[in-house]
Amino acid sequence: MDQNQAKRAVAEAALKYVQPGELLGVGTGSTVNFFIDALAALKNDIPGAVSSSEASSARLRAIGIPVVDLNNAGTLSIYVDGADESNSHLQLIKGGGGALTREKIVAAASKKFICIADESKLVQQLGTFPLPVEVIPMARAYVARALVALGGQPVLREGFTTDNGNVILDVRNLTILDAFALEAEIGLLAGVVSVGLFARRPADVLLLGGPNGVRELTAA
Ligand code: 5RP
Repeated sequence: MDQNQAKRAVAEAALKYVQPGELLGVGTGSTVNFFIDALAALKNDIPGAVSSSEASSARLRAIGIPVVDLNNAGTLSIYVDGADESNSHLQLIKGGGGALTREKIVAAASKKFICIADESKLVQQLGTFPLPVEVIPMARAYVARALVALGGQPVLREGFTTDNGNVILDVRNLTILDAFALEAEIGLLAGVVSVGLFARRPADVLLLGGPNGVRELTAA
C-alpha cells in the first residue's frame, strides 16, 4: 500500500463518523481531499460543511456540498482533518498546508475531532516536522527573534500568504517535551495568530492508514 492508498483508506474509514442530517467540519490537505471525494457518496445526507480553507471550500462546492459559515453553524458534531505529526496522546502538529488558524477554530467548535493520517505521521515526540506559526506580517521579525530565544530556527515560508492575509514561520529544531505548555508560550507572543500545536485541543480519534489497513487510536 503506498502513501496515497493509505490516505484514501483512512479517509474512507472516517465516513462512519459522519452523522446523517448534521453539519460537519472539514479540514485541509491531501488526506482531507480524499475524504471530501469520499463524502460525495453521502452528499444527499449532509446539509452542509464548515471548511477550514478556501481550497477545501472549493472542493466541497464542486461535489455539491454547501459550505456554511461557522457563525451560523453552532457546535459541530465532528471535525475531520489531517495532521503533520501526532504523538500517542493525539497531540498534533498541523499547518503544513498553512490552514492552522481556521483548523484550530473549527476543531475547537466541534465535539469530536477525527484525525486522518498515514502511519508515517505517528511519532514518539513532536517536532521533527517544522512547527508552523501564523504571524501578523508586521510582527514577523519580532516573533522570529522570540522563537530563536526559545531554541527554534524559524524560517519564513516564502511566497505564501494564509487565507487570513498573514505569513507563516516554520520553526525547526524545537525540542517539544511539553506541547501543552509550548502551545501557550508561543501563542501568547504578540503578533502570533496561532501556533500549529494542537495539544490543548488534541484529536479524539486518530485513524492511521498503513500496510495492514486502518487502525484506530484514542488518546493514551
Ligand atoms: C494543513 C494541515 C494538514 O492537515 C496537514 O498538513 C496534513 O496534510 P496532508 O494530509 O496533505 O499530509 O494541517 O494546514
